[in-house]
Amino acid sequence: MPAISFQSVSKTYPAIRNQTGPAVRALDDVSFDIQPGEFFGLLGPNGAGKTSLISILAGLSRASSGSVKVHGSDVLTDYANARRKLGVVPQELVFDPFFTVREALRIQSGYFGIKHNDVWIDELLASLGLADKAHANMRQLSGGMKRRVLVAQALVHKPQVIVLDEPTAGVDVELRQTLWQFVAKLNKQGSTVLLTTHYLEEAEALCSRIAMLKQGRVVALAQTSELLKAASSNVLRFKIDSELPSHLADQARITGRIVQFPANNAREVEQYLAAIREAGLVAEDVEIRKADLEDVFLDVMAEKAVEVPVEINLAGVAA
Ligand SMILES: Nc1ncnc2c1ncn2[C@@H]1O[C@H](COP(=O)(O)OP(=O)(O)OP(=O)(O)O)[C@@H](O)[C@H]1O
Ligand SMILES: [Mg+2]
Repeated sequence: MPAISFQSVSKTYPAIRNQTGPAVRALDDVSFDIQPGEFFGLLGPNGAGKTSLISILAGLSRASSGSVKVHGSDVLTDYANARRKLGVVPQELVFDPFFTVREALRIQSGYFGIKHNDVWIDELLASLGLADKAHANMRQLSGGMKRRVLVAQALVHKPQVIVLDEPTAGVDVELRQTLWQFVAKLNKQGSTVLLTTHYLEEAEALCSRIAMLKQGRVVALAQTSELLKAASSNVLRFKIDSELPSHLADQARITGRIVQFPANNAREVEQYLAAIREAGLVAEDVEIRKADLEDVFLDVMAEKAVEVPVEINLAGVAA
């Protein structure tokens, strides 16, 4: 039985009354399974539908159609069981400012009917670098520390399935490493992990399988190693002081002074460098690197941006 099963999940947010703008088809017939013990990455640009899918999984929002199950429990018809199997770290920092960190974790434990949870709470606090903040009030914490508390909160009931919606946004390098070590340990011990992140390096390092969402549709779904094979094998990278002619710029990825061209072999590298020279430009700090997940992601997302028309009858569409 899959740990998480999405079956033909669609979500349409209705047009807001008295405001211009159409209904938003945030998810369009999304189907895939995540197996127990997987470390699964859900990637996509802003607005692709990642949080919408996670909200439906967590029972915070209803799918317009389709179904979602957590270890066989339907998130709609068997909500309590589904919810108990899930630990969700939300993208938004929401918390109650009146409690201390320990109180917040005890309350969350109580919500799942767990008493005397302090041994596990202490372990969570220590693992997430929060031990000295146990008695701090939530409103006294910095943004990154609040994020750590949200992670601890999601894990108080030792869920089988851990869902992290951009857990490292706004988090410093040290905590990112602490967090990943901890989550990787839980994954080794058998927990299933579903992760969204815009840090593609993290996704490449951690996730064994990845789905890419674009405008509410799954546009890629494969083992991370398979996705990496799909990219052009190498990338030519250099710095340049002036602007590239447009026929070259069209083929390049440009970040400030850094220019990158996909190149499969030495001949293509030579051709690009010759074209730069012919344009009267000087390439500095030239290097060739292996293509990474970011290259794959950009390739997948660049594939003809199709506008998804929304042809639905607004009557009867649940928000
Ligand atoms: N409550 C809502 N009401 C109306 N539209 C919404 C609502 N929540 C999300 N949307 C729209 O649904 C689409 C998907 O949003 P979603 O938050 O799921 O994207 P995301 O992939 O999580 O993006 P990000 O990377 O920015 O977090 C967007 O077009 C967004 O504007
Ligand atoms: Mg989101």
